[in-house]
Amino acid sequence: VPIVYNNVMGYESTVTSPVNIAVVKYWGKRNSELILPTNSSLSCTLSQDHLNTKTSIRASPSYTSDRLWLNGFEEDLYASARLTNCIRELRRLRKEKENELSSSDLASPENLEAAEHHVPPLSEWCIHVASENNFPTAAGLASSASGYAALVQALSNLYDLSISLTQLSMIARLGSGSACRSVYGGFVEWQAGILPSGEDSYAVSVAPETHWPTLQALILVVSDKKKSTPSTSGMSTTVKTSELFPIRISEVVPKRIIQMKEAILQRDFTKFALLTMKESNQFHAVCLDTYPPIFYMNDISRAIIKLVDLFNSQVDEITKKPKGIRVAYTFDAGPNAVIYAEKDVIKEFIELVMYFFPRGTGQTSNSFFPDPFGLLKSSCSGNGNPSTTPAEAHSHPKFENYTPIMTRYEPGSIRRIIHTTIGDGPRVLDHSQALFNEAGMPK
Ligand code: DP6
Repeated sequence: VPIVYNNVMGYESTVTSPVNIAVVKYWGKRNSELILPTNSSLSCTLSQDHLNTKTSIRASPSYTSDRLWLNGFEEDLYASARLTNCIRELRRLRKEKENELSSSDLASPENLEAAEHHVPPLSEWCIHVASENNFPTAAGLASSASGYAALVQALSNLYDLSISLTQLSMIARLGSGSACRSVYGGFVEWQAGILPSGEDSYAVSVAPETHWPTLQALILVVSDKKKSTPSTSGMSTTVKTSELFPIRISEVVPKRIIQMKEAILQRDFTKFALLTMKESNQFHAVCLDTYPPIFYMNDISRAIIKLVDLFNSQVDEITKKPKGIRVAYTFDAGPNAVIYAEKDVIKEFIELVMYFFPRGTGQTSNSFFPDPFGLLKSSCSGNGNPSTTPAEAHSHPKFENYTPIMTRYEPGSIRRIIHTTIGDGPRVLDHSQALFNEAGMPK
């Protein structure tokens, strides 16, 4: 249904799309034009309630060029070959659809009043694209996966294309490899494929988000002033120079994809966690084996690994039995840690993180850890002002098992703790939630 404002007609679509975090990593391309990977990868889609990209696209015969706004600022849409590739492909499919219809079915721009009964020639109209993340860009989280997934979903809806999620995933892949996994919720495999055309390189669902409802995630946003190597150039140097890399691709990853799928289908946290941590370690090992070497983790990242390791080595005081592997870490192309854990251990781990990595001076506890599930609520005073939680006290017997080995880090070493769950795939929103005002400009 067309939207008419100020005598300007347009068609519009708004969606949100999720972030995904790989547990078997994509690192390496066999074709960088088509973004075809050297190996299959597997990820968990995180909940859009806490992390998402929202994208609105409007097409109108009155627009004179394609325009793009990212987080409220206009950018040159044509500056990105990947973005224009995605748009070109969806326009081509729209054109195909329009060509299938007879000319009498198509609305002419001169006769827009009749548009409701005709198919508008959207493929010929320019578009306005507005995209926003609901998490601060300063959080240092990559948004290309959720961003491209939202773009292709919104444009495919706008164009009323009846394409499969497989096709949509392939188009999102042209924007950014990892984006092809964000078209599904839950647990997702990107099958590398072998065809030079890329027709067999797309994401498939391993299990929906409802499959393992107790699995949760924490993102520990680590302070970092350095600009890290972009993944595109980093992985290209790895493919060219790392001698460990071919072994990873031929021997390690194929095995791990199978094992990881088993772990997920069996909801076997120990198996899932061990594989996740070893995968992260090997990804960073091939980065170190790249020449010149690439370092994504910093001292705080490594301290988080140590904390996870200590947590996983705890022994039950009464039974004297090991408590087992209860949390897993994974790191992408930057210093932030993503922690996976079952719901019942998350609180204990968050308290530990807050003790060893206290919030920065001048930072409110709500901006440090918004606590969306109210885990630490009981430790707040009744006057509405957040009190010091046990985790923030100067010393606490709870952490005695850790203090001989772990030291407390400078306040602000971790900037933010985001607590989330495994979530669903892209969501379609209605017109009232669009990012455009009546004139078709970002609100
Ligand atoms: C380390 O998808 O950002 O996060 O395809 O070049 O855009 P391009 O790379 P990108 O790479 C992500 C790499 C990773 C691992 C992963 O998500 O699997």
